[in-house]
Amino acid sequence: MKGLILSGGKGTRLRPLTFTQAKQLVPVANKPVLFYGIEALKEAGIKEIAIIVGDTKDDIQGAVGNGDQWGIRISYIEQDEPLGLAHAVMISEDFLGKEPFVMYLGDNILKNGIKSLVEDFRKKKPNSQILLTEVPNPQIFGVAELKDGKVVRLVEKPKEPMSNLALVGVYMFDFHVFEAVKAIKPSWRNELEITDAIQYLVDQGYEVQPHIVKDWWKDTGKIEDILDANRLILESIENKNEGFVDKYSKINGQVVLEKDVHVERSIIRGPSIIGEGCNIVDSYIGPFSSIQKNCRIINSEIECSIVMEDSEIRDVGSRIDESLIGRGASIARCPPKPSVYRFIVGDKSKIEIK
Ligand code: TTP
Repeated sequence: MKGLILSGGKGTRLRPLTFTQAKQLVPVANKPVLFYGIEALKEAGIKEIAIIVGDTKDDIQGAVGNGDQWGIRISYIEQDEPLGLAHAVMISEDFLGKEPFVMYLGDNILKNGIKSLVEDFRKKKPNSQILLTEVPNPQIFGVAELKDGKVVRLVEKPKEPMSNLALVGVYMFDFHVFEAVKAIKPSWRNELEITDAIQYLVDQGYEVQPHIVKDWWKDTGKIEDILDANRLILESIENKNEGFVDKYSKINGQVVLEKDVHVERSIIRGPSIIGEGCNIVDSYIGPFSSIQKNCRIINSEIECSIVMEDSEIRDVGSRIDESLIGRGASIARCPPKPSVYRFIVGDKSKIEIK
């Protein structure tokens, strides 16, 4: 079996971050989201993967390389425009050939990986297997309707959902999917929808097997979901301390301190992870925080947040909570007088003040 990971797209819901970086490289517990997918495919025994890339091709290729770091083979397929998930399948026919494959959306994380699901697919050999999960708000997902345990209908973001079963971003197909992606027409948003391709398979009498996922799954397409995924992943980290902690500091709970981390007069409460070369001085780092490498947190408090590499947070009077701070950002206190706020903020940024 081969793997196809989709890592193109526009990432509009993650602006302003996606103006300058690929959303699939946003770190969750200090690891790019995309790496969770690569590792899930590898764990399922897949050794040959192609990654669909768009505008952010160079960054993705730079971070992932040729797969050597995981001992698998990774190649790239360029998608000129994000014309839909089914379009991504269509342009991958040469790579996939007649082999069955797993298609994995590069911004998705599944708690328990996909090993058992892939085994199920290999054993039963349906033409397609889709993963579904119960959600409270099906209107914002692709939704499936089942009858007698079989898939009968799929609708993308239905106004009036016929079930609460949302499609999880992992699909398995055999080569019949190429017939489907060539037969369907673009949707109102001018994309070739994978839901339409799967509906075609159902309508033509091909076997589409549903599989309900019970463990958590996250599509990290929105900021809140990235923070949620960060929380869920951090819940299972284990203690590690390769840094320096002075005698006035306290580390509580599951905390990872990478190499060259320096903690002075601070409290760090787990689960949280502090990347290589960070300086934490006179500060409080609360649970569910991921601080990427080379950040400086001075005289500040932060919790339930992600801070990306090379950022600085200094003398911020109130606690920073539920925040996502991009690379090389700086948040600091202005002088006490005149009493003003001073912002240098890029397009589509979001700032909340009390
Ligand atoms: P989406 O999150 O559905 O789309 P998007 O990345 O354009 O984001 P937004 O809605 O915020 O603008 O895409 C799911 C995954 O599939 C994501 O990793 C990007 C990837 N993708 C492609 O590779 N090619 C495509 O044509 C599309 C639509 C998505």
